[in-house]
Amino acid sequence: MKIKDVAFKKFISQTKIEEKVTELAAQISEDYKGKTPVLLPVLNGAFMFASDLIKEITVPCRVSFVKISSYQGTQSTGQLKTLVGHEESLFNQDILIVEDIVDSGMTLEKIMLELRDRGAKSVEAVSLLRKKIAREKNIEVKYVGFDLEEEFVVGYGLDYDGLGRNYRDLYKQIVQP
Ligand code: IMP
Ligand code: MG
Repeated sequence: MKIKDVAFKKFISQTKIEEKVTELAAQISEDYKGKTPVLLPVLNGAFMFASDLIKEITVPCRVSFVKISSYQGTQSTGQLKTLVGHEESLFNQDILIVEDIVDSGMTLEKIMLELRDRGAKSVEAVSLLRKKIAREKNIEVKYVGFDLEEEFVVGYGLDYDGLGRNYRDLYKQIVQP
């Protein structure tokens, strides 16, 4: 599979993703029993994961979206724009951020900090994928689907230069030695 100049190969199948989503949703539903969390997907990448996950959550919940951007191409630019969205008050709410992937962790740290500043009751995160660097930096992610090394991935909502979000499976970049 090729997107623009970059070659990708199948990495995690739709079936594996579905199994993991079910597992994560069950754990979240258990942990949030008696609460009404606000699920906060981070656009654009998390839209597909969030949609599947939220369908399987059994506690009453609200959904609100945020957007922030730090990526161009296959390398993090390290530049964070500000958080936009979340018109509804998140004050005193149990917030669960829904991410597609945590790489450097800068995006997630920034969102968590901002939400805590605004007086959220609790702030946790669920991410379908987590890269090695976030693991090493001990970035706070309570629920993780799959742990990766450093590969660049597309599909299931994740993009390369805006493309590839529509695939049902996850693909990783083929890195030539
Ligand atoms: P971080 O701030 O470095 O953790 O970057 C996180 C954001 O960058 C994610 O929410 C994704 O939108 C994007 N991103 C990071 N790694 C990848 C990747 O391998 N493929 C596609 N997007 C990625
Ligand atoms: Mg994202």
